[in-house]
Amino acid sequence: MQETLKQLETEAIAKVEAASSLKEVNDIRVQYLGKKGPITEVLRGMGKLSAEERPKMGALANEVREQIANAIAEKNEQLEAEEVKKKLASQTIDVTLPASPIKMGARHPLTIVVEDIEDLFIGMGYTVEEGPEVETDYYNFEALNLPKEHPARDMQDSFYITEDTLMRTQTSPVQARTLEKYKGQGPVKIICPGKVYRRDSDDATHSHQFMQIEGLVVDHNISMSDLKGTLETVARKMFGEDRDIRLRPSFFPFTEPSVEVDVSCFKCGGKGCSVCKGTGWIEILGAGMVHPNVLKMSGFDPDTYQGFAFGMGVERIAMLKYGIDDIRHFYTNDMRFTKQFKQD
Ligand code: DAH
Repeated sequence: MQETLKQLETEAIAKVEAASSLKEVNDIRVQYLGKKGPITEVLRGMGKLSAEERPKMGALANEVREQIANAIAEKNEQLEAEEVKKKLASQTIDVTLPASPIKMGARHPLTIVVEDIEDLFIGMGYTVEEGPEVETDYYNFEALNLPKEHPARDMQDSFYITEDTLMRTQTSPVQARTLEKYKGQGPVKIICPGKVYRRDSDDATHSHQFMQIEGLVVDHNISMSDLKGTLETVARKMFGEDRDIRLRPSFFPFTEPSVEVDVSCFKCGGKGCSVCKGTGWIEILGAGMVHPNVLKMSGFDPDTYQGFAFGMGVERIAMLKYGIDDIRHFYTNDMRFTKQFKQD
């Protein structure tokens, strides 16, 4: 019996040493140390031994088991280490390979124009206000001196939601909302960029949704020359230092007097070309002195306060600045279009 055990030990250890994979080692473990293995078998036959021999044989059987188990553990460790080494060798990372490029977004051209103009006005002490896009008839029209049935409402075809609410047709309602907030106390110096909506058929120059930037200054002793100086600064910032502006009489219900503002053509410098349609001038915005009724309705005393206001179309400015020929490009979100305005 003793011999059998010794023989099993030598045999098993030799097999373990010759094994070349973890699986093979595991098979050997099951074969020799498992419940159905030869050592268990030997131990089963111990009943036939004398009381003296039994413990000796038991001790020997345990020792053989332990020897085999140790050999298996050692071999496993060795094989595992080899495997890791192999993995490391086959999975080296080439840190010099160029990385796959990350797709970077770009600011939308309308965002660029809005942010440029915001920067300019914040630098001149203005704050940036916002107002709701779903607006009441009162703020969109009435508070701007456009009572119900006023014919000038026809200039702005509107998307009504209820009898009294509509998608704002202009950013001008933010003028009335802001004046109310200031409770009759100037100075007020704000701009308000935002989306506006009109019931127009979309084509190269019309969009049912577009953007405006509104400006409003209300204080003591504000005159037309303040308006002109401010707009000249805007025109030069957007279209170049050599630009001039001119004011032409116009009509808006919320300003008196009202003007359209033209900038000298940035393409031909005023000689006349296709961009300015031969006139040397390009219309960029509407403006005027805040109508006394507007001041009054929103709680300001028109005898002590005056103001100027202006409103410009952001798409129009962007189209001129970047030579974009169709307003629909801004809203179809073709990456080939927006990518061109990448700035760092
Ligand atoms: N709200 C006008 C429009 O959408 C633009 C405008 C003109 C705004 C004159 C003004 C202004 O503040 O003074 O046609």
